[in-house]
Amino acid sequence: MKGIILAGGHATRLRPITKVTSKQLLPVYNKPMIYYPLETLLAGGIKDILIIVAPENAGDFLKLLGSGKEFGAKFTYEIQDTPRGLADAFIVGADFIGDDNVTMILGDNIFEDDFESTIKNFKSGGHVFAKKVHDPERFGVVKFDDKMNAVQIEEKPKTYLSDYAITGLYIYDNRVIEAAKQVKPSARGEIEITELHNWYLKKGELKVDTVKGEWFDAGTFESLLQASNFIAGKSK
Ligand code: DAU
Repeated sequence: MKGIILAGGHATRLRPITKVTSKQLLPVYNKPMIYYPLETLLAGGIKDILIIVAPENAGDFLKLLGSGKEFGAKFTYEIQDTPRGLADAFIVGADFIGDDNVTMILGDNIFEDDFESTIKNFKSGGHVFAKKVHDPERFGVVKFDDKMNAVQIEEKPKTYLSDYAITGLYIYDNRVIEAAKQVKPSARGEIEITELHNWYLKKGELKVDTVKGEWFDAGTFESLLQASNFIAGKSK
């Protein structure tokens, strides 16, 4: 199993603080944001990790994280020239993934959960994780039937679909590279990760579990503050 941390993008929602740095380098209480998704992958037993960054701040990531030795891991870096969408990570990372399966985590996602046994036991298909939220319109959203089987997934639905957001940790088998190459840009011009979930869902090969602990997408001023307060509270 290979790991990817997607840490590019322009983070326009966090201007002006992201004018001279990357969102994923901002502090969340006492650590740079990217440490949290990195620790989630490491705790999941993944030691071979690709970090995808935007060209502007690539040097800062390298300076902060280095070769990975300090973390008992091996880090590889790739630059994503423009933020073409989350599914692009599997195209940018195709050579790194090779013939393996892959777990991708978003550089602004903070999980309280432990995914070690899920990652260890993963065989094939896709496996994603949902969390009940009060603002589902901000996210990819999944609708379940009464047996908690996923029946529909949409990216930022305009009309209410469900309260379950799909969080930013995705486990896919190697076919995800080919699936990503087939995705056409959405109305907002991005190749959406939701298309990949649906690619597996249509085949009956997508597992959707719920996240038990806390989860934050720290991509807005409010959620960044909430995440910092949560970590500060846990550190006491
Ligand atoms: O946080 C979970 C949500 O993340 C999911 O529910 C959505 O399905 C998924 O599309 C995504 O939505 P966001 O609107 O939060 O995505 P955002 O544009 O903020 O990008 C997520 C992270 O990926 C962020 O750290 C920036 C980085 N990124 C984004 C894009 C579009 C890249 O590195 N490259 C990109 O091309």
